[in-house]
Amino acid sequence: MDKEKIRAGVVESLPLIREIQNETLRNQVIDAWTLALSENEYTSIEEMEGSGKPGGYTLGNQAQHILCVTRMALAMAEIISDTYQKDMQIDRDMLLAAGLCHDVGKPYEYHPTKRALWSAMPEKYGNPPLRHTLYGVYIAMTVGLPEEIVHVCGCHSPEGELVQRSLLATIIHHADKASWRIPGCYDRFRFDN
Ligand SMILES: [Fe+2]
Repeated sequence: MDKEKIRAGVVESLPLIREIQNETLRNQVIDAWTLALSENEYTSIEEMEGSGKPGGYTLGNQAQHILCVTRMALAMAEIISDTYQKDMQIDRDMLLAAGLCHDVGKPYEYHPTKRALWSAMPEKYGNPPLRHTLYGVYIAMTVGLPEEIVHVCGCHSPEGELVQRSLLATIIHHADKASWRIPGCYDRFRFDN
């Protein structure tokens, strides 16, 4: 599929992109997903199963996951600010971009054909060679996303335990965890016994 079709599909998959007011940032978010998908044999975000890592607990697809995390992040920031009357100086555009881009490296970690090679020869390649966090950093830097968003891509997951997470990365980290653990808890109690 040509890149323009993939690009148009990114906005269809993640309609919250349209809420980013800053045109440069909005285009960088679209560029990031277009690059990540097209470099890894994917044409849409929905083609990836919804899970934190391949083979993990699965719920819906990755586009639903990204939207769920972004919406929870916006809600958490708003509720905490309102409840405590605390202006945390959160830029809504940046929080949107952080949520929408946090897993932009997943098309690599979920690669449709390379995964079989990685699992067959981990002593040569590592399995995976890079997690989505590291690949996400590469994508975010390549398209020129701000350093704050690069940090979220790289540090929303356990990699962030080795540094001090920013406020944006902290919000996304908790929204991300909740998005798997809450339905995962329900589904395990319901179906695993
Ligand atoms: Fe995530």
